[in-house]
This record gives sequence, C-alpha cells and structure tokens, in this order.
Amino acid sequence: KRVVLAYSGGLDTSVILKWLQTTYGCEVVTFTADLGQGEELEPARKKADLLGIKPEHIFIEDVREEFVRDYVFPMFRANALYEGLYLLGTSIARPLISKKQIEIARKVGADAVSHGATGKGNDQVRFELSYYALEPDIKIIAPWREWDLRSREQLIAFAESHQIPIAKDKRGEAPFSVDANLLHSSSEGKVLEDPAIEAPEFVYQRTIAPEDAPDKATIITVGFEKGDAVSIDGEALSPASLLTRLNELGKDNGIGRLDLVENRFVGMKSRGVYETPGGTILLKAHRGIESITLDRGAAHLKDDIMPRYAELIYNGFWFSPEREMLQALIDRSQEFVTGEVRVKLYKGNVDVIGRTSPYSLYNQDLVTFEEGAVAYDHRDAAGFIKLNALRLRTLGSRARQIGE
Ligand code: ARG
Ligand code: SIN
Repeated sequence: KRVVLAYSGGLDTSVILKWLQTTYGCEVVTFTADLGQGEELEPARKKADLLGIKPEHIFIEDVREEFVRDYVFPMFRANALYEGLYLLGTSIARPLISKKQIEIARKVGADAVSHGATGKGNDQVRFELSYYALEPDIKIIAPWREWDLRSREQLIAFAESHQIPIAKDKRGEAPFSVDANLLHSSSEGKVLEDPAIEAPEFVYQRTIAPEDAPDKATIITVGFEKGDAVSIDGEALSPASLLTRLNELGKDNGIGRLDLVENRFVGMKSRGVYETPGGTILLKAHRGIESITLDRGAAHLKDDIMPRYAELIYNGFWFSPEREMLQALIDRSQEFVTGEVRVKLYKGNVDVIGRTSPYSLYNQDLVTFEEGAVAYDHRDAAGFIKLNALRLRTLGSRARQIGE
C-alpha cells in the first residue's frame, strides 16, 4: 500500500507522515509544492529523507507559474470575491495540489492520498472533492479526522517518541494557523478566535500597516491582454513574476489586509485575517480595464454570476462541470479586455486613475456635455423615459385611486 501525502515539512505533516507509516503500515510518498509560500523546499526533502522516505518517493516541484497562470488568473478574470470580500487565496490553491498528488499517485502506483487539513474546515472538502473528481476510486486518509491526537502537546509528544525533529519555535503553542502562497497568506485560530478583538499587528506578515506606508503615492501601469495582466510599467512579466512584483508594491504601500468573519462550507462561521497585496491591486486594475472594454450587458452578466462562481471555488468545486461552464462564459467575455490601467497606490488604497485600450468602447464624443455626436439625439431620450415610465405611471394612478 502506498499513499501520496501533501507534505510541507512542518511539524503537523511530519507527524502525519510517521502516523501513516506506523498506523497504516503504508509506504509514504511525499509531495511538496512551491506555491510561493516563501519557504525553502530543501529542508522538506531532508526531513522526508530523515523520516525514511526513499529518494525516488520524495517529490518537490515549483508550481508557481502554473498556479498563477492556470488557477489565479482564470479566477481573476471573474473578479471573484467570496461574501463580497475574500479573494479566495487558499481556496484556489487546493485543486492544484490535489491534481499533482493524483498525478504522482498514478506515477508511483499509489492507491491512496492524504492531506493535513482538519475535520472542521473547508480545506478537507476542497482536497477531497478534487481527488474524487480526478480519480473516482482513490482512497483518502485524513489523519486529523481519525487519530486521537487532540492538542499541540500530544502532537509534540508523538513527534518526540518517533524521533521527529521539531524546530525550537514550534515547541510552544502556535499562536495561530497559517496558510500561504503567492496569492495570499491567511491566519486563523487562537489569538484570532474572538471576532470582537482586533488582530494583533504580529499576525500580519506580508504587508506593512497602512499607517506606516510612505506619505508619497506610487503610480504604476498594469498592461492587460485578453483579461490577464501581462506587464508592469511596460515590462512584460510572466504570471508568477508579475504577481510577485505586485505583492512587493502592495506590501510597501500597506495594501490588501482583510479581517473577515466568513461562513465555512461545513456550516460554522470563522474569523480570518488575510493579506492579498498583489491580488488586491490586480482586482482593481482588472475592473479598470473592463470598465472601458466590456459592453454593459456583458459586464453585468458576469457580475451576476460572479458570486456563484466564487462560491463554487470556495466550496471546492473547481473540477465541476458548472465551474467549467461559468469559466467558459467568463473567458469569452475577456476577448477585448486588453490595454493599460494606471493605478495609484497610497496608504492601503488602490485607485484607478487612468485607462486606455485599442478596443475601448468609451466614446468621448457620445458622452461629452459639449456639442455632441449625431448618433445621439437628446429628443430620443424623452420617449425612452416615457415608455420606461409607463408601468410606474400606471401603478401611480392606481395608488392614487385607492387613496394610498
Ligand atoms: N478560511 C480560508 C479558506 O477557507 C483559509 C483556510 C486555511 N487557512 C489557515 N490559516 N489554515 O479559504
Ligand atoms: C483546516 O481546518 O485545516 C483549515 C481551515 C479550513 O480548512 O477552513
């Protein structure tokens, strides 16, 4: 029996690794992805090696470009926000990790996969829906739902009795739980559990406080092609390098902090602190370029379906026909979403201050208050309003008749 474990090299997944070996007696294959979480990967290889994983069963891959190009960018074409605010930084990474695990399982002939998400959250759902969609008969082992380790002390005791090295700073109670990748970092639990209490400053890890940001604004130009950002200040950048650059700009200007109480798919409310510096800039810039290149009907239709699309990603249905159908609609809308947006970054704010496109629908001649275009006759507006008012007038006269 072989199992492919999503392995970070941290304490939790190292304990899981050992637990899988001892409880299930199975051969563990590890997968560690560089998603831009900002951690070295080689220590994870060393640790897996130390825990008895065969060299050919240690898989380490830099998936940053694939993550941004095939997951983050498609999602940003939709301007996706869950419950109006959350940019889905954790949600969008899970399908990619799951897909890689399944690919590795096929390669090494494993019949099972495993992950380190708890039994109370969204992540278990996202991992497992993705596994099942891609490999219908896969066996799934979710240690957090099975074992009786209930506290950090028990986890550490298990680690000690199995010769798992523990970093010094991991011995004490972890102050909160973190998930990070190129798009965002998220912190939940412990010091953040009471939603009445402000998050302490030390929770924030990839943005400076807006109060500490420079008193001078930073102005950048983001170039778009068919809905995807392709350049900053005229310099063409790959998807991952572009997001990395936006993250630096966002960080320095205190952009992208979010303190949110959200509804988890499994039913409870949870409080999280998110930092999405580059994503926050990208969302505003993308809406900026859409504002001149999308027709009203197209723009409003994609806004109508956006919450539905965001919820599918939040709930873990990336690999579903309904997500793919909505994606096709969104992608189709982006054909002319090409051009440049000037954005001002200042103390936590992102403001669009200019937009240009070879496909702009903005017609200054039509909209001007000065002597205008022939395509628009003021006198047409009177009939337009009158016919639109017909129902309202009918209702108005009935109200009057019944003395309302
Ligand atoms: N609540 C977020 C989501 O469901 C983040 C979950 C993972 N974050 C964490 N700190 N463990 O997408
Ligand atoms: C977890 O429970 O593993 C993290 C939080 C979540 O998945 O919602």
